[in-house]
Amino acid sequence: MRTTWQFHTAGELVFGAEAVRQVTPLLLRRGFGRILIVTDRVLIGHGIADQIVDPLCRAGLSVEVFDEGEPEPTLQAATRAIGRAREFRPDAILGLGGGSNMDLAKVTAAAVAHGGAPSDYFGWDRIPGPVVPIVCVPTTSGTGSEVSHAAVITDSASAMKVSTLSNYLRPVLAVVDPDLTRSCLPKVTADSGIDALTHAIEACTAIDFDQLALEPGETSAYAGRHPLGDCLAEKAIELVGRHLVMAVREPNNRVAREGMSLAATIAGIAFSNCAVALVHALEYPIGGELHVSHGAGNGLLLPYVMRYNLPARTAAFARIAALLGEDVSGMDEWAAAERAIAAVEKLKREIGIPERIRDIGGRRDQLPRFAEKASSIRRLIMVNPRRATQSDLLGILESAY
Ligand SMILES: NC(=O)c1ccc[n+]([C@@H]2O[C@H](COP(=O)([O-])OP(=O)(O)OC[C@H]3O[C@@H](n4cnc5c(N)ncnc54)[C@H](O)[C@@H]3O)[C@@H](O)[C@H]2O)c1
Ligand SMILES: [Fe+2]
Repeated sequence: MRTTWQFHTAGELVFGAEAVRQVTPLLLRRGFGRILIVTDRVLIGHGIADQIVDPLCRAGLSVEVFDEGEPEPTLQAATRAIGRAREFRPDAILGLGGGSNMDLAKVTAAAVAHGGAPSDYFGWDRIPGPVVPIVCVPTTSGTGSEVSHAAVITDSASAMKVSTLSNYLRPVLAVVDPDLTRSCLPKVTADSGIDALTHAIEACTAIDFDQLALEPGETSAYAGRHPLGDCLAEKAIELVGRHLVMAVREPNNRVAREGMSLAATIAGIAFSNCAVALVHALEYPIGGELHVSHGAGNGLLLPYVMRYNLPARTAAFARIAALLGEDVSGMDEWAAAERAIAAVEKLKREIGIPERIRDIGGRRDQLPRFAEKASSIRRLIMVNPRRATQSDLLGILESAY
């Protein structure tokens, strides 16, 4: 039985309104002179990239902007970003955008430092050493990539989302300015926000760290549930319960935006130490084949996976219900736990997350393949509180169909 757990996050985190103004002095202090900014044309169109590029140029740094980021980035986009980086030879790579651009920055930093292609580093702990320093400035409130050890790429050949996980992918610096999220469309806010909720729920309902069964010599991308992760995840759940609907309805509501940015970042710290599990395992093949956003896919699946995990995590779900604002006083634990599922279903309806797999174009005959692909992602299956077989996964998908 394991007796220890560990904790990692970004090297430095700066959080709050107008934090973006600190990017230039923070990069100067670290002695960086050549910055590759990985972003996309939507963010350039909103003038968000200029808020970073202009002060950097005024301060005399060499700046190159790669603007071909795309939602759920493909290997092809990564190959282009890596090509640009190899020509420019940056001493830091700054991911500006949602999880998609931040992840593109991360895989670029790994391939530039160690050579080869992004696929050489797919999976857990395959990056052999430090990468080009990564700086992340998120413009959505969802993925937590600004603090996490993960980068997700869509591999069109296998129609799968594929993760690269390594503590070398933790950014040296994360600058989280909630004001940058105010131009997100309601759908982006909703999808990324429910991704943050999924991270927090999967982190604090994962297998306990001392129950994680590893082979001799094996290490895991995730430590399992532990007390520090619980603190962060529970706070994140409460913040999502309080702020997500408002952030979707009133994009310029600064209180709601700040609440969601904080929720996403601390949920990112929680999941990237403790776990994401079956929701993410099932989303990877579904997102890869049906081209639904990561957040919408996770949000769709979340209550069905919660139902499956309920017997193993009744007390945690009862607590989650209260954190989401449900009045569970006087209820027995099982009834209170069921209210957590009901609360997530209600939240989904309020922010427009699809309810069923058939609503996003899935066919019933695809479900066995989704279950088979999900069951192969051992690092996610092994940290779920119930050890799910392929037929359990199919059962969850059928309930969600
Ligand atoms: N690395 C991790 O730890 C991690 C965790 C979860 C998810 N992910 C990955 O992150 C990706 C999803 O990221 P996301 O949910 O942040 O969305 P996203 O990065 O895909 O962005 C979605 C869209 O919103 C636009 N956008 C972003 N910020 C905006 C702003 N402020 N104003 C206007 N438009 C804006 C983008 O240009 C894009 O078109 C997926 O690929 C997912 O697999 C990574
Ligand atoms: Fe996620």
